[in-house]
Amino acid sequence: MTHIPFVVAENAQEIAQTVAAEIAALIRERNAEGRSTVLGLATGNTPILLYRELVRLHREEGLDFSRVITFNLDEYYPMQPDSSQSYHYFMHHHLFDHVNVPASQIHIPDGFLSRDAIADFCAAYEQKIQQAGGLDFQLLGIGENGHIGFNEPGSARDSRTRLVRLDATTRRNAAGDFGGEDLVPREAISMGVATILEARRIVLIATGSKKATIMQKVLHSAASSDIPATFLQLHENATIYVDTAAHASLV
Ligand code: F6R
Repeated sequence: MTHIPFVVAENAQEIAQTVAAEIAALIRERNAEGRSTVLGLATGNTPILLYRELVRLHREEGLDFSRVITFNLDEYYPMQPDSSQSYHYFMHHHLFDHVNVPASQIHIPDGFLSRDAIADFCAAYEQKIQQAGGLDFQLLGIGENGHIGFNEPGSARDSRTRLVRLDATTRRNAAGDFGGEDLVPREAISMGVATILEARRIVLIATGSKKATIMQKVLHSAASSDIPATFLQLHENATIYVDTAAHASLV
């Protein structure tokens, strides 16, 4: 078995509440000290309920995001930020438009750069994370192929923010959002495995039966590039939350 602590919850809503409560406690603690909270954020279906809960905590319980600094994991390339398929659009729609994170404290990889500007952009992205004090909390989903961020199978333990080629499985799963697999971008800009592992706290959420097979592999395989999520075994403060559907076939 793996060394990654994992929690099985009744359903996705329970996970959203538990993880949102942890993030809220962190933000409140750091606000009370007059310090910023640096969050690494994910997109996709998995975190939608969690973002909804964070928005509720802001509206109903006054959770103050004014000192929060965010870094998103990834963005398709090429991708215009105002396209409805962009992760820029997703983040504003689900979270940033509804809480008080100052726009200057939001960072999302730029999918609209010229190709020759990407390497400098990625180096600067890493530098900005460092300048912010490093990631306090990194939220992750998982791809059916075991990717975290867009670190597809084959991604190295020491990989950093960079341009990546998307795996066939990833592009197939995104086909619905783009109106066909052929229309899914072939590349993305993603934080690397090393970038993620430097976060002081990591929470990976896997919900729904489509994640059951990969979760079984993650929890029973040694850390390796074949399944990038297994690298979380190398982190001393990571937790995996699965709902009963994603846990169904775990033994
Ligand atoms: C998204 C990301 C991806 C997703 C993963 C799961 O920013 O980095 O790794 O977390 O593909 O996606 P969903 O949640 O849609 O199943």
